[in-house]
Amino acid sequence: MRRSYLMLALAILPLALGLTFSCEKGSVDKLSGSSGNTCDTVGMKYMEDVVPILSANCYSCHGTGNTAGSGGVLLEGYANLKPYATNGYLVGNISHSPGYDPMPFGLPQMDACNINTIVDWVNNGALDN
Ligand code: HEC
Repeated sequence: MRRSYLMLALAILPLALGLTFSCEKGSVDKLSGSSGNTCDTVGMKYMEDVVPILSANCYSCHGTGNTAGSGGVLLEGYANLKPYATNGYLVGNISHSPGYDPMPFGLPQMDACNINTIVDWVNNGALDN
């Protein structure tokens, strides 16, 4: 009996490890590195790094194509996003910080890779880069 539990544990282990180390960051060229860090969030740029995340997670409600159900908040386009980056709402909402509206609205929080990418961009001045 004991033995079969052990075999089961050994069978599940690689699966669990596989799930732990998977990361959804899209840009493959940034994933390699001697540190083994699979989530590079340094020097993040608006066009290259931030827009794809917002496009996938936020534009369904806050994009130019749809403002219904969005609270009238438009986040598509640099000029529209910048005020929310500088007033703290962008980071507060995606971090689910107390006192902010958790975003994406009614959906699970984004993964740490995506959140830290946006946080880095904001901390570096939320530039149009
Ligand atoms: C399912 C629709 C939906 C999605 C997806 C969504 N939001 Fe929102 N968002 C809303 C609504 C509704 C409001 C207005 C909330 C309110 O006024 O209480 C809002 C408001 C905001 C505001 C304005 C400040 C505030 O709290 O009122 C910001 C900033 C924001 N969302 C960021 C985001 C970001 C960033 C994402 C993607 C990670 C996102 N939202 C995804 C529906 C959505």
